Amino acid sequence: MTGYVRHSDEAIAAAYNDTASFPRIADLVEHFGYKQDRHLRKRIATIRREKPGMITVDRTAYNHSPRRAVAPGRYLVTTKPKVDRWLLTAAQDETPISEPFWGNLHRYAEHIGAEVMVGGFTYNKALFEDHAARTGVFAAAVQPYLVHDDVNLGPLLFAAKMNILPTAVRPLSGLDSYSRGRWAVYPHAKVQLVSVPSLPGTHPAMIMTTGCCTVPNYIEKKAGLKAEFHHQIGATIVEIDDAGRIFCRQIGAAGDGSFQDLDIVVRDGEILTGQRIEQATWGDIHIPKMDPVVARTIWGYDVETGEITGTGLFHDLRPRHQAFHDLLDFSARNHHRRGDPHFHVALTAAGKDRVEDEVRAVARFLRATAADWSTSVVVASNHNDALVRWLREADPRLDAVNARYWCELNAEYMRRLEQGDREFDIIAWAIKRAAPDPLDDIVFVPRNGSYLVCQAAGGIETALHGDEGPNGARGSALNMNRMAMRINRGHDHTASIVDGVYTSGLCGLMDQGYNSGPSSWSHTQTLTYPSAKRTLVTIIDGKYRA
Ligand SMILES: [Fe+2]
Ligand SMILES: [Fe+2]
Repeated sequence: MTGYVRHSDEAIAAAYNDTASFPRIADLVEHFGYKQDRHLRKRIATIRREKPGMITVDRTAYNHSPRRAVAPGRYLVTTKPKVDRWLLTAAQDETPISEPFWGNLHRYAEHIGAEVMVGGFTYNKALFEDHAARTGVFAAAVQPYLVHDDVNLGPLLFAAKMNILPTAVRPLSGLDSYSRGRWAVYPHAKVQLVSVPSLPGTHPAMIMTTGCCTVPNYIEKKAGLKAEFHHQIGATIVEIDDAGRIFCRQIGAAGDGSFQDLDIVVRDGEILTGQRIEQATWGDIHIPKMDPVVARTIWGYDVETGEITGTGLFHDLRPRHQAFHDLLDFSARNHHRRGDPHFHVALTAAGKDRVEDEVRAVARFLRATAADWSTSVVVASNHNDALVRWLREADPRLDAVNARYWCELNAEYMRRLEQGDREFDIIAWAIKRAAPDPLDDIVFVPRNGSYLVCQAAGGIETALHGDEGPNGARGSALNMNRMAMRINRGHDHTASIVDGVYTSGLCGLMDQGYNSGPSSWSHTQTLTYPSAKRTLVTIIDGKYRA
């Protein structure tokens, strides 16, 4: 008779502890007849969790089971109807690994049933060297995990063949099309992420770098010293769910080799679950055109009723601060659509032409999504500012629907100006006035204001929307990067990581009424951990993780 044999926890633990008889995980997998080592790792994780003390050894040091030999070239790792996980990192030749991080990475891989893969890159400081990653000499610990060819991880490409110089300022430049429209991860020590435009109705492909498991080792000249500054010990987690959806996150290690991934912190080989994050910079909100699925996925917010009807990412990760960008859309009277009769007929027919209704919807959203364990922060943004422009430029005689509201807001605004109150924020005043309570717990950061988080770890600025760049230029991730600050911003609706500048996507609908053609927009959110390390997470079909 053949069939599945379930071995007892005691038998598995005893063999796992017996490193003399079973020196490699592969030996245990073979002994117990598992088809994949992930099944054994999951079982071990369960025993470790449910029966503390039964597992007495730390196998991370014994964890170097050699990879199966594979033919050179692209090959397929099939995605089965379950979640597949990989932890991808990079290693430099002739360079030692970061031991604490390496240990934590394997501990985490064991905990979540992920496979570790390392892409090698060469940077030899000596002359007359062939610079091929395949012939490079790498630290012994990483060798069982090294891949030298591109690997298909289900629908995602791990472009391990791409040997990018570690001193590259923009490691992903020119690589938009290499993965032929698919998501791709490239081995590199500097963290970068680019969203590649795709046809309307399809999700843009994200391409990104891994982070690195070897310590900084650069020539002490300009290029080397610059690269050392941006060297990130870390990895990228790839999750593929049973429907083939891709979820990737950046895992950046702190100085002690510890790291956080969503609600899990891995420190000194310990797994700590239920951890909070420090801050979330949500993608641009654009209230009247908010995506109902995204609103439900993050806050459990029902856009129809304005009620919280469940829990979501916000409750799972409990950020201490949450930032809202482009909270108003101001579609009711936006100057961009002034004089467009087709737009205004449609708006009026849909009953969405009252500015006061939109401001009331904003107030309702702020009240519903506030929590006493998190500070809600409204970031000054160009779409919020459209209200001020409307108060300055519109003619109320020609807008019967909004005339009274226009007069009321302008009366208050002018009264404050007469009193010499130059700090007065008419947007905050209008929103608070529309709320059932004064919204005293909500922080409204004015233009040129600041809201720093993670100050003990150097600080990250979270109150720059990103529409204004240096010296009057339009803001972009690239020109804001010149400010040499760590910034979480919005505005582009296109997710990116450029050095210290992380840009979220949007929480609004992909169709905002004015955009058309190929798009790199996505429902991407920036999450900041207490260590000041950050990740982007993208919501796909109502999920933010596999
Ligand atoms: Fe926006
Ligand atoms: Fe904006």
